[in-house]
This record gives sequence, structure tokens and C-alpha cells, in this order.
Amino acid sequence: MMLTCAQVLSEGKAVGVRLWPVREEKRKAVLATMLKVKEVLFSSEEIEEKVRELAERITEDYQGEEPLLVGILRGAVVVLADLMRCVELPCEIDFMEVSSYGASTSTSGVVRILKDLRENVTGRHVLIVDDIIDSGLTLSYLRRFLLARKPASLEMLALLSKPSRRQVDLNVKYVGFEVPDVFVVGYGIDYAGAYRNLKDIHAVEPRTAEG
Ligand code: PRP
Repeated sequence: MMLTCAQVLSEGKAVGVRLWPVREEKRKAVLATMLKVKEVLFSSEEIEEKVRELAERITEDYQGEEPLLVGILRGAVVVLADLMRCVELPCEIDFMEVSSYGASTSTSGVVRILKDLRENVTGRHVLIVDDIIDSGLTLSYLRRFLLARKPASLEMLALLSKPSRRQVDLNVKYVGFEVPDVFVVGYGIDYAGAYRNLKDIHAVEPRTAEG
């Protein structure tokens, strides 16, 4: 019998689905908030149009070059996948994964590199692609980290930006949408690991984000 995702989630005992106790707790917590996802902030159609616009600018700006698009795992997977298919240039992709050092990040901006690039970026035109920029600390750190490897150029793209949350001055060349200080999910952006697969971008009530 085929089970839908919702069935698998709601019937944790479904055949072949074994959840560790901690994961079970997390699953329940996520499920408890699932109905509190609020209105659509940006529909899949609006996102598609915006990604296309960004890709057109990139195509124009990098004429004659072969940029390396660097997606920041995990949130950037969706936007990178859509963006790269609209860029009408030969280009390559690579990925980095980072995690914050907890409290110290808010002061030092230092992040831990969990996965480094496979490509050598020296002399390459590098474009960092992220789903959302909040404090700016992650991109600020990654920019410094990659500049040390002497790329030919280094620019940044964020589908969403929350300017009111910014803690560092950062020039992000390609920004899709500016958003107020609300918790958002969908199109790659998660809450407790869930919701990344929603096609639209939704706002979540603040009390939901706080658990
Ligand atoms: C998010 C987002 C950015 C970062 C932005 O990643 O994808 O990389 O936070 O925050 P900042 O501007 O305050 O530094 P997250 O740590 O949630 O990981 P994820 O991409 O795996 O969801």
C-alpha cells in the first residue's frame, strides 16, 4: 500500500518507518506547529518570475565567463536548482555546508565549515547562492573565507533578505525579495527541518517559531 507523506508522518508506525525517540519528539513538535503556517508571502509563480529575473541579470553580467555557483546547504538547494536552469551561460555548481558555533556566532560571526568546496576557486568568478540572509553573519564569513582563495570575482545572491535583522554591512548584489522580520518557511527554508518542500514561501506565526 502506498502511503502519502502526511500518512507516514501521522502514522509513525507505518511499515518501514522507524523513528528514534529523540526524532519522535522532534516530529511531534513539528507536527504540532504544522497548522500554524500562515499566509503565502510569495507564491510559486512569483518566485519563479523573480528567479528568472535574477538569472537574466546573471546571464548579462557574466557574459563570456563561466561562473561557479556555490549553494549553501541546505536551504539554497531549491533556489540553486531553479536558478541554474535559467542562467543561459556555461556554468558550474558546487556546495558548502556551514553551521554556527552557537552563541559565539552572534558576536564573532565565525561559522564552522561542515563541507568545503570540491572546486578550486582561484581565478574563478564565484557567485554564492543562499536562500535567506538574516544577520548577514554567515555570508559575511563565507565571503572572507572564499576571498582568501583569490577568486577572480566574488558576488552573493540571496532569494530573501531581512534588512532589519542585519548585524554586518554586506553588499549582496542579487536579492530576490526583501521581507520584514517574520519567520518564513518553504522553497528550501525550514522550520525544525520541515517545510523545505513547500512550493510557496509562507509566514509562520511568531509564537509558532518560538515553539
Ligand atoms: C540559514 C540560511 C543562511 C543563514 C542566514 O541557514 O540558509 O545560510 O541561515 O543567517 P544569517 O544571515 O543570520 O547568518 P541555516 O543555518 O538555517 O541552515 P539551513 O540552510 O540548513 O536551513
